[in-house]
Amino acid sequence: MKITIIGTGYVGLVTGACFAELGNEVFCIDIDARKIELLNNGGLPVYEPGLKALIARNLQAGRIRFSTDLAASVAHGAVQFIAVGTPPDEDGSADLNHVLAAARAIGRYMSRYTLVVNKSTAPVGTAQRVRQSIAAELAARGNDAPFAVVSNPEFLKEGAAIEDFMRPDRIVLGCASGPEGQRARAIMQRLYAPFNRNHDRMLYMDVRSAEFTKYAANAMLATRISFMNELANLADCVGADIEAVRRGIGADPRIGYDFLYAGCGYGGSCFPKDTSALIRTARQYDQPLRILHAVNAVNAAQKEVLAKKMTARLGMDLSGLRFAIWGLAFKPNTDDMREAPSRVLIAELLARGARVTAYDPAAMRAAERAFALDLKHAPDARARLDFAENQMQAVLGADALVIVTEWQAFKSPDFQQLRDGLKTPLIFDGRNLYEPAAMRELGIEYHTIGRTSAGYDESRDTA
Ligand SMILES: NC(=O)c1ccc[n+]([C@@H]2O[C@H](COP(=O)([O-])OP(=O)(O)OC[C@H]3O[C@@H](n4cnc5c(N)ncnc54)[C@H](O)[C@@H]3O)[C@@H](O)[C@H]2O)c1
Repeated sequence: MKITIIGTGYVGLVTGACFAELGNEVFCIDIDARKIELLNNGGLPVYEPGLKALIARNLQAGRIRFSTDLAASVAHGAVQFIAVGTPPDEDGSADLNHVLAAARAIGRYMSRYTLVVNKSTAPVGTAQRVRQSIAAELAARGNDAPFAVVSNPEFLKEGAAIEDFMRPDRIVLGCASGPEGQRARAIMQRLYAPFNRNHDRMLYMDVRSAEFTKYAANAMLATRISFMNELANLADCVGADIEAVRRGIGADPRIGYDFLYAGCGYGGSCFPKDTSALIRTARQYDQPLRILHAVNAVNAAQKEVLAKKMTARLGMDLSGLRFAIWGLAFKPNTDDMREAPSRVLIAELLARGARVTAYDPAAMRAAERAFALDLKHAPDARARLDFAENQMQAVLGADALVIVTEWQAFKSPDFQQLRDGLKTPLIFDGRNLYEPAAMRELGIEYHTIGRTSAGYDESRDTA
């Protein structure tokens, strides 16, 4: 099939590359000329495992191309995917300017039946607004080419995006009933047929329910994390080990083990903005989502938990101390720094006078850009932040190691080397990577999220 992808970011790139891999002819368009030039020169604007090779292979086979030419992109695809960003507006709602600009571009240039697929995460009612924007452009040209708009939200995870796209749990498709919807559904069925060979993963529903499903999924996942984080903080107080508790509750199939890890808060481009957008939608209908307000508040506080543990141990004034930070990206296997907990932590440590040496296996350049922005008005603080070439170099002579992102390479380091490298054998672990008992044996003082009491001395209770 001939497919156009409007918006060549994480989602658009992965969608385009995966459809091309299956033999489709894919035209990726973006308004960012630098991004398109980079892609055409074999570069990649984002870090995503496996994506570079996938794109190179399909570029060479002539199944994918990158351009800024809107008219040509609309002329190419019988199916037009919208995969542009939907960043938060000032009031927390989703900013639909990019989605509607893409819709207008389609309406401006289309001349035959076109199926428009919204893949961007956008509030209930967006497909209808897309439809109106396209219709207005067509009417202005006196063109009556038929079209349909469907919702096909994306559930891929950065860091595992290709696997998620190629082997999805489900493919949600929201389309209208009636002949127009049937036609759209048949096209989408054909396009997604290669993903459904083992069993049918398509979930058909009305457009509004599909739009809502994406927000509901992210809201649920964010809720599980904040719930566990709040319990972890309590576990620290009562002398329970949150890891044991996670296994204890995860064994219940109604709960399950996934997405129950306590940590130093979630970040990324999706959970924070999507929970805020859903809260905003709810407010419009006077149906406040009290749980989500709490989820967001807990997460904001959790991003400060590491700094709080550090000041409780080392004092409020951290000047004269230098900390090694392992992990900057909001999660492993990505270089995405959007809303990353490391940004809150590092800003706080620098504000308290500390020096910071940071290392991340993929996000160093993205981090430099992010901190240049965050610390624009604090040149003195910026001067106390530097980046190491590898994880052990970051640790050399540091007063403590702080772990913020759970990259594989941090999970089994050479602990002797680590302890010898640190000025003080002190670790604050925001991702609970190590066994507290093993750290004790190594003579490392180890602070965790909800595991500090693992191996709790019960004599404290009876004394
Ligand atoms: N990143 C994820 O993990 C993820 C997962 C599922 C869903 N989503 C959703 O998918 C959408 C895209 O997210 P992303 O992370 O890929 O964003 P992104 O910021 O990485 O990419 C968006 C791209 O759209 C381009 N763009 C903006 N306006 C355009 C226009 N009018 N025409 C052509 N291109 C335009 C931008 O230049 C940018 O390259 C968002 O709604 C997001 O919530 C993201």
